[in-house]
Amino acid sequence: MTEVLAATQAFDERIRTRTARVGIVGLGYAGLPLAMAFAEAGFDVTGIDLNAERVRAVTERRPYLVDVPAERYEVLDGELRATAEYAAVADLDALTICVPTPLSKTRTPDISYVVSAAESVAANLRPGQLIVLQSTTYPGTTAEIVLPILERTGGTAGEDFFVGYAPERVDPGNKRFTIRTTPKLVAGVTDECRRRTELLYRQIVDEVVPVSSPIVAETAKLHENTFRAVNIALANELALMCDKLGISAWEVIEAAATKPFAFLPHYPGPGLGGDCIPVVPQFLAARVREYGYSPQLIDAAHEINTRMPSYVVQKVTDALNEGALPVKGSRLLLLGMAYKADVHDIRESPSLEVMRLLLARGADVRYCDPWVPELELDGALHRSVAWTRDEVAGADCVVVLTQHREFLDEPLWDAARCTVDARNVVPAGPNVHRI
Ligand SMILES: NC(=O)c1ccc[n+]([C@@H]2O[C@H](COP(=O)([O-])OP(=O)(O)OC[C@H]3O[C@@H](n4cnc5c(N)ncnc54)[C@H](O)[C@@H]3O)[C@@H](O)[C@H]2O)c1
Repeated sequence: MTEVLAATQAFDERIRTRTARVGIVGLGYAGLPLAMAFAEAGFDVTGIDLNAERVRAVTERRPYLVDVPAERYEVLDGELRATAEYAAVADLDALTICVPTPLSKTRTPDISYVVSAAESVAANLRPGQLIVLQSTTYPGTTAEIVLPILERTGGTAGEDFFVGYAPERVDPGNKRFTIRTTPKLVAGVTDECRRRTELLYRQIVDEVVPVSSPIVAETAKLHENTFRAVNIALANELALMCDKLGISAWEVIEAAATKPFAFLPHYPGPGLGGDCIPVVPQFLAARVREYGYSPQLIDAAHEINTRMPSYVVQKVTDALNEGALPVKGSRLLLLGMAYKADVHDIRESPSLEVMRLLLARGADVRYCDPWVPELELDGALHRSVAWTRDEVAGADCVVVLTQHREFLDEPLWDAARCTVDARNVVPAGPNVHRI
């Protein structure tokens, strides 16, 4: 048996018997659930994160994400440890990079975290390791950025080490689709890289779908999120148009959704939030612009979606006006600052922009969000008020921005003098205004 074959078989054996040591770089919304999934499957897992507080939290088994509550820490089959030291890489058989990929101020992809993580991994690389990038990123990143950094160590991908891409598809808070039940796309920079990446993910995911190259997997991920951004923009534009027609966009969508084929309902809202849907289409757009292509649909969707907070503010202004009240000085209660229901995440949340615009108009703005006890906006600290009848009754206008279950389980809508509902959860009434 050749040395290469023996090494390949040994790697496969360690993965199949779950004796392989797996590393996760970046213990955030994407990385921590993945680390848990490997540890639950019996692997010995090391999380590497530069954030000392997250390292401490994992070490002390303290929950900090909605998808990883305390109970999950208690039933691990394998080991889960965390460190800020990249020296730990040397002990690993396979590792996945899940670091952030935000947009810069000019809305171009910032892959500095990926570069920094890849460089730190490269400095500790040892023969036979599998490195998988899982961060969402622009087409070409794995082959053009990560691979050359690892190759600078002198080795060759597919022989001395292995490089794959496996895009993250997590939907935080979604109980139906977990890591195990969400099909996983995988790709490698060589056939053997893909085969090893596929083998790794088969241990924790029911359906693994190999594709021909990392750039296909990268672009597929971007297309998934762009599909959503564009369809939400379509629903938002429908809301803007139905407003002109004097009809309910919600009723129109429900009517259209009775068609059993070729229609997938999407709904209007106060705008896009989270670090994925508003951000990810820009990765694709930025890349194709380099080739002189102008992505018109992505640009139009972005424009419509980013207009929605102003539209909500216009609705609030109109609603107050009906009661002969100005925005300035009116007491407003914003419900839900997280970007979607039942999560803590306020990244890119359109509720923040609604709040900012109303504060700029001199409104007396309070917010209630059981998931976001406090937040900082433009240097000022705001604290959530409690979800009580008095708070609702005390507001000149209640603005529903995120439909957290706490609001739905204990509805207090009848106490409101006036409501602007961006989520279609408040029963119709004379002073209820829907977007
Ligand atoms: N949040 C989601 O729902 C979601 C969904 C799909 C895809 N993604 C993608 O997954 C990737 C990670 O996103 P996230 O939401 O988990 O981010 P996050 O900010 O929650 O977590 C990232 C973690 O990486 C750590 N980190 C940053 N640089 C590091 C470095 N050089 N070395 C080690 N650790 C480092 C940070 O301290 C942080 O804890 C992004 O590309 C994102 O687009 C996220």
